[in-house]
Amino acid sequence: MNDDIPQLKTYEDASLDAAFAMLRDEVRAETARGIDAEAFRLRWLGRKQGRLKLVSDAWLKSAPAEARKPLGMRFNQLKQEIEAALETAAAAPARGALAGIDITLPGAIRAPGVEHPLIKTMHEIVRVFHQLGYSTALGPQVETDFHNFEALNFPPNHPARDTQDTLLVAGQNDRPAPARLLMRTHTSPVQIRTMAAEEPPLRIVVPGKVHRNDAADATHSPVFHQVEGLCVDADITFSDLKGTLDHAMKALFGSDVKTRFFPSFFPFTEPSADVQISCIFCGGNGCRKCKHSGWIELLGCGMVDPAVFASVDELRVAQGKSPAYDSRKISGFAFGMGVERIAMVLHGVSEIGLFYSGDMRFLEQFA
Ligand code: PHE
Repeated sequence: MNDDIPQLKTYEDASLDAAFAMLRDEVRAETARGIDAEAFRLRWLGRKQGRLKLVSDAWLKSAPAEARKPLGMRFNQLKQEIEAALETAAAAPARGALAGIDITLPGAIRAPGVEHPLIKTMHEIVRVFHQLGYSTALGPQVETDFHNFEALNFPPNHPARDTQDTLLVAGQNDRPAPARLLMRTHTSPVQIRTMAAEEPPLRIVVPGKVHRNDAADATHSPVFHQVEGLCVDADITFSDLKGTLDHAMKALFGSDVKTRFFPSFFPFTEPSADVQISCIFCGGNGCRKCKHSGWIELLGCGMVDPAVFASVDELRVAQGKSPAYDSRKISGFAFGMGVERIAMVLHGVSEIGLFYSGDMRFLEQFA
């Protein structure tokens, strides 16, 4: 870098041009190397020792009157170029840092992304049913009271609704009760939507997010995931349900697991059952994980209640379609499982919150 300012020999245009070109080249060389904005500002615009001040002292102050204008013009041009370079440098401080980059240091390593364990588990469940010929159906998370409850045989104000503490969408009171919006509490409303749109035979799996007004604890989260299943055809029986879920549990947890169907209740299935698998931690002998029962409860299921088929056909007729779900001719089964619950059992995780915490030390174990 050239610190002193040469004397001007003449004030002719050509020699002024040459003198300023030299300074301009100096500025450009510095900005090309990458500059620290503050050091650059001090060096060129510093009040006392800045190069522009020195130029002004050496060339402008002693210049004859007729040289003032051509000198001043060139001086201002140079100053503008310096100020523009400074602005760019201040806006992109990283560029200044570039000058100090050590290319021999190891780079910042970006780990390849992988599926979150919950999504992975959801896909694993869905795949088991795809292999049985099921296809995926999806539905909205903001649902109507009709699809989430009424059509599934939960009448308004029926105590069965208390089993699914519901998050309601505000400002719905002007609407008729069935049209009021809520966050779906289960994936079962997609049963209604699919049957309203399609005729049997039907085999669907429905993965998705559901919402309940539950306090978070070790095993509950107000937002969680379910996979629903629905199979409707002529002559579907409870044996089909048992065989299908027994196969699915063996595919997910290993061929050693046994299944057990325990009487239960859901408004939209009759009969209803809870499915339990033999404890995968103790093999059924009894341990802390299965509360010494030898069994782990995993999902709900049952035969589709004729009342559900009736509301589906009512809906189809209202939509101008022909009824297609006469419960004297067709039957079906449905099931619903919690993805978090299955992932927790599969991986021996005892805190549901770990799935949502974003802690890489936890998540990386599933990569
Ligand atoms: N929807 C039920 C729940 O969330 C589960 C279920 C689905 C039960 C299908 C029976 C049939 O609790």
